Amino acid sequence: MALHASPFQLFYFLVEWFVLQVLRLFQGPSPRTEESVQGKVVVITGANSGLGKYVADEMAKRGATVVMACRNMVEGQKALEEIKRNSGSTTVELSELDLSDVSSIRKCAASLKSKYPTIDILINNAGISLDCAERRFTKDGFELHLGTNHLGHFLLTNLLLDNIKKASSGRIITVSSTAAVMSNLNIDNLMLENSGLGLGNTMPYNNSKLANALFSKELGKRLNGTRVKTYSVCPGLARSNIFQHYSTTGKISMGLGKYTFFLPVNKAGDIILFCALAKELSISSGKMYRFGRQFSSIEPLLTDHLATALWEKSEQLVGIQ
Ligand SMILES: NC(=O)c1ccc[n+]([C@@H]2O[C@H](COP(=O)([O-])OP(=O)(O)OC[C@H]3O[C@@H](n4cnc5c(N)ncnc54)[C@H](OP(=O)(O)O)[C@@H]3O)[C@@H](O)[C@H]2O)c1
Repeated sequence: MALHASPFQLFYFLVEWFVLQVLRLFQGPSPRTEESVQGKVVVITGANSGLGKYVADEMAKRGATVVMACRNMVEGQKALEEIKRNSGSTTVELSELDLSDVSSIRKCAASLKSKYPTIDILINNAGISLDCAERRFTKDGFELHLGTNHLGHFLLTNLLLDNIKKASSGRIITVSSTAAVMSNLNIDNLMLENSGLGLGNTMPYNNSKLANALFSKELGKRLNGTRVKTYSVCPGLARSNIFQHYSTTGKISMGLGKYTFFLPVNKAGDIILFCALAKELSISSGKMYRFGRQFSSIEPLLTDHLATALWEKSEQLVGIQ
């Protein structure tokens, strides 16, 4: 079972995206929100670098207890100290989390659950992106992008859900990408067997980003009637480290973008913060946002059928049925 954008839809998505990206670069502030998070507990994955680090810093400045869930504890410690210095906060902590390893996710979730009975905001931000010449795998044998970006966050979120439900108005933000529109996600071949990937092929990443948006939609539906809302978000192309694992050719082409139309990290990070905090979003759940607006034209790709099928398959894969 798969759903692809038509060539016309794809062309429309990409032109619209490019125009918005350039407009946002030259416009004034991103959809910044000044909401306070005083006393709230915010968990952010991949918070030692790029957008996650910026969001962690902003949350700390606004008074939250921030948990930076990071794979690289050395870089995590450096980022933690920098954020504490910047924000003056003493309530920033580090927790070890490797999203490409189910046992690490379970360990991290168990420790967070016992330490923080209530979690107000979970930001599923961490991500890996390669321009693959061949398939790579997580420790548990999942295709690396789907395993890390989607299944890792799927498991973490489900394990933390009881604690998030205790929040007075919980939010779960999953960082996706407009790259989702170029996905060819096939529920019957999630691990891309015999897919003949070549260099420059970002399909595994695109698929994981569509999976992020489908997960957020299905989760929103399943949480209907609770106080928890879900959002997926494309932050726009940003000057972070996301392309560091690309081939040399990939790095050169992305490097050109980085110094031209890519967004500064703070502008892209503000787009994530908007979904985490903006009061005006509190009436909706399960939708995808970009540039501070609902990304309505992606809706035809986020079918109920695909979202439910992905959820059920993900449960089987990570063993939480
Ligand atoms: N930057 C863009 O242009 C752009 C565009 C659209 C969407 N996004 C999305 O934005 C999110 C943030 O990315 P970014 O741009 O800030 O890139 P980044 O600077 O590379 O940050 C990515 C973070 O994810 C972490 N991570 C990667 N694999 C992990 C794993 N197995 N377990 C735990 N953490 C892991 C990285 O940790 P390490 O330091 O240990 O590698 C890093 O902290 C991603 O979901 C990305 O897909 C970015």
